[in-house]
Amino acid sequence: MDSICIRGGVALQGNVCIQGSKNAALPILAASLLTGECSVLKNCPRILDVYAMVSLLQSLGCAVCWQESGIMVDSSGVKCGEMSSEAATCMRSSLCLLGAMLGRCREVVMEHPGGCVIGERPIDLHLTALGQMGVVFSEERGRLHAIADRLHGAEIDLPTPSVGATENVILAGVLAEGDTILSGAAREPEITALCRYLQCCGACIEGAGTDRLVIRGQSRLYGTDFTIPADRIVAGTYLLACMGTGGSAFLERAPGEELTAVMEVAERMGGHFCTSEQGIYVQGPSRPRAVERIRTAPYPGFPTDLQSMALAVEARGNGVTEIEENIFENRFRVVEGLRRMGACIEQTDSRRVRVTGVPFLTGAEVCAKELRGGAALVTAGLMAQGETSVSGCSFVYRGYENICRDFRELGARITSV
Ligand code: EPZ
Repeated sequence: MDSICIRGGVALQGNVCIQGSKNAALPILAASLLTGECSVLKNCPRILDVYAMVSLLQSLGCAVCWQESGIMVDSSGVKCGEMSSEAATCMRSSLCLLGAMLGRCREVVMEHPGGCVIGERPIDLHLTALGQMGVVFSEERGRLHAIADRLHGAEIDLPTPSVGATENVILAGVLAEGDTILSGAAREPEITALCRYLQCCGACIEGAGTDRLVIRGQSRLYGTDFTIPADRIVAGTYLLACMGTGGSAFLERAPGEELTAVMEVAERMGGHFCTSEQGIYVQGPSRPRAVERIRTAPYPGFPTDLQSMALAVEARGNGVTEIEENIFENRFRVVEGLRRMGACIEQTDSRRVRVTGVPFLTGAEVCAKELRGGAALVTAGLMAQGETSVSGCSFVYRGYENICRDFRELGARITSV
């Protein structure tokens, strides 16, 4: 079941419900360690990265069980100490356990989180910021050892609005001694969701959603019930798939207020939208207009996680589009597969490509190399004439609960094999 087969050329049509947010659920699952009690997280997405995070929490002593509405995590039995190495290396999002374990246990030994094909994924900003809070790092048999005899607040200035580093400072700060003032914080909605969850647990955090956070350390936190918000990247994926296929769809629960930059670009592609509390109604053009330039940027700019999707759509655009990737250094792995489908793409440097739209893409056998590039190849298969087979889709299932089910609900001829 690692491949997805698509018979393209169908304009998407219908309603689809957007799943819970992967990038909100992962730090919130880590944050549940801080309470030492039970939390119930409704609308938690059933995706591979969440399953991996769950096995990490269980290896630390948490009891976890899935329920109809979501997941229950009981962190009362956490054993302070090492994380299982095979789990800690298999995904990047284990890094947010660093801040949570320091907050809970004041010490943790873990594998260096893996880099991946989209970039080196350094952790210098995490280490510097946590170091200012009293954490001492060392290498032990190739693993990262972190210990804080006294975890205390600090005035921290992030030179880059790193999402992960912002999350780790919050996770370490909510139970630290004194106040932490974090300037240059990332403003992604997933960070706001993390702050809201922690506030429900009794944390005192001011400035959520801005680039300046004040975290006032508390003596303890309490379990709570919380609903994971809808995934803006999954919603953006389906919105852009409508742009590429000339479809019209209602994206139920899509967070319109978090997709402003994406809808601005999609409007320039020729799309029309109607947003409401319930979601977003999307109408795509018969052929996308070429947007002169698309630049990725930290939130609220155009998200790097939708860059590959925009590239796939503009492969059918009626002109030339330049795409600039300003967040990661190697996020054009999807180009090879799109070219096999007839796309005309020139890579001018490691952070820039120029795509000249062609009237039609042609189905082909292609291979996903990473999560969002894989979703973009599926999107291209929906747009193409003929049959496309995308292998390597275990990458896609890391972030999309059931992309085949969702696209089938929109009328696509798509199956996982
Ligand atoms: C989070 O990754 C997301 N992952 C990514 O989503 C997303 O693309 C990224 O934020 C940017 O929005 C999760 O939330 C699990 P960063 P993260 O720290 O935290 C550099 C997806 O597809 N940097 O904001 O790792 C880094 O190399 C994934 O869902 C340092 O230099 O991203 C990158 O160039 C992919 N030193 C830039 O900052 C550091 O210490 C942004 O990285 C940390 C980061």
